Amino acid sequence: MRTQVGIVGAGPAGLLLAHLLHREGIESVVLENQTRRRVEERVRAGLLEQNTTDVLERSGVGERMRREGLTHHGIVLRFDGESHRIAITDLTGRSITIYGQQEVVKDLIAARLAYGGRILFEAADVALEGFDGRSPAISATHAGERIRIDCDYIAGCDGSHGVSRGFIPEGALTHFERQYPFAWLGILARAPPISPELIYARHDRGFALFTMRSASLTRAYLQCAPDEDLSAWSDRRIWDELQARLGTGDALRLTEGEIVLRGVTPMRSYVCEPMQYGRLFLAGDVAHIVPPTGAKGLNLAVHDICMLAEGIAAAYRGDASLLERYSARCLKRVWRAEHFSWWMTSMLHPVHGDSFNDRLQVAQLDYVTRSPAAAKSLAENYAGLPYAADDR
Ligand code: APR
Ligand code: PHB
Repeated sequence: MRTQVGIVGAGPAGLLLAHLLHREGIESVVLENQTRRRVEERVRAGLLEQNTTDVLERSGVGERMRREGLTHHGIVLRFDGESHRIAITDLTGRSITIYGQQEVVKDLIAARLAYGGRILFEAADVALEGFDGRSPAISATHAGERIRIDCDYIAGCDGSHGVSRGFIPEGALTHFERQYPFAWLGILARAPPISPELIYARHDRGFALFTMRSASLTRAYLQCAPDEDLSAWSDRRIWDELQARLGTGDALRLTEGEIVLRGVTPMRSYVCEPMQYGRLFLAGDVAHIVPPTGAKGLNLAVHDICMLAEGIAAAYRGDASLLERYSARCLKRVWRAEHFSWWMTSMLHPVHGDSFNDRLQVAQLDYVTRSPAAAKSLAENYAGLPYAADDR
């Protein structure tokens, strides 16, 4: 088999790349090791920057998102028993949209299949070769046969557990990493949201986040231990803990409902540099991870892909300079988001026994909710700085 761009991974990064390349008249094949059903049902974060919704709309896959997505203009920070609204749109002129990542994935798969694009699901044992020269190739086992796809470029979009990064020679990449002593226990519940906006709560019992997916689905997260035993969390215990951390004297009470999904999300910061080696380009979670507190993971992946699609299209037109600068163009935004996500995480998650840290967190929350300058800084990072800012 031969194609122009071989793509590993059918998450938002790989699928969006295939879609944007198609719009430039460039063909690709996507190899994914899971089933289509699994990929479409995986529940992840769901907060899109305006940059991201603009990319999806402009490229013709934003129709359902526009109809079903929830546009938000602010978030609430809660600490010391009080709520403080950060007016994101008033401060930045930009809004944010709640639309589940798996819905973005469904829309991209539907668009790709509608124009006859190839996605090979259940492709096992993906291996990459030849990308340090001019003849990259991907091999995999698909439908019981070993296949080989020769291509001009390879995009590694296979997420945090992906294999593509591992084919780059040892020593060519530098890894930057930070671990956190906590994780998030996330739930999805059939319960109407009690607040029209997201609530990020710092509480002495631990952080909690209230968010949503629709008028009848609540999503919420609780700070927990990285090795938290889910079987110790009955529905009753989860609701009681959410009520304790999110509720206050002003009588906010969550509406409870059936918990239809639960899981533990690890917290990690990671970046590899550079994000390219020869004709292999890394994009999305395989190249960088952020803790979910700033909701930047998916948005960063979309930015990487815009840079990659633009670079590949220019290279086919005879100008390889953008593609050569792919990593540098991405990393500026990646590190801004790494800092913001680390900062939000550090401000909101108490660490047991560290009372100095507790006071710092409250001092910082007090500052960002009182000072218009500090609130604006939080808001512009949360909403996402305009893409044009990266190339300056
Ligand atoms: N071979 C083929 N496909 C693979 C392999 C492999 N060896 N390993 C992983 N994959 C697939 C996964 O099954 C998944 O569908 O690659 C895809 C990677 O998708 P994501 O994990 O969604 O990563 P990405 O597309 O970079 O999107 C980033 O996703 O994880 C969230 O928080 C993250 O929102 C961010 C976004
Ligand atoms: C979500 O809706 O799942 C969500 C929102 C904001 C975050 C993280 C997750 O910071």
